[in-house]
Amino acid sequence: MTFVVTENCIKCKFTDCVDVCPVDCFREGPNFLVIDPDECIDCTLCEPECPANAIFAEDELPEGQEVFLQLNAQLAKQWPAITEVKPPLPDADEWNGKEPKIDLLEK
Ligand code: SF4
Ligand code: F3S
Repeated sequence: MTFVVTENCIKCKFTDCVDVCPVDCFREGPNFLVIDPDECIDCTLCEPECPANAIFAEDELPEGQEVFLQLNAQLAKQWPAITEVKPPLPDADEWNGKEPKIDLLEK
C-alpha cells in the first residue's frame, strides 16, 4: 500500500505534509508534490495535515483520482526529495478546491 497525492495539491503545494513524514518520501515538482510508493510506510500521518485534503490511501482514492496512483509512482522517479516545509505557492488559497486542475500539472 501507499498514500497518494491527488489533484487538489496542484497549484497549492502547501507542504505541511512534508513536515510529518518519518521516511522523507515526498518528491517535489514545480507545482505539485508526489509520494514515492517505494518509500511510503503507510503511517497515515500526512493525510490529516494537508490543508487541501489532497492525500489519500491508495485504496481510498476518490472517484476520478485513480490516475494519480500511477502519476505519483512515475513522477517520484523524476523529481527530487523535499524534506522541509516551504511557503505555499502564490494564490494557493484561491486554487484550493478548484477543479479540474490536472491539465495545469507541470512536469
Ligand atoms: Fe510519509 Fe506516512 Fe504519508 Fe507515507 S503515509 S507519505 S510514510 S507521512
Ligand atoms: Fe500538496 Fe497538501 Fe502536501 S497541498 S504539498 S499534499 S500539504
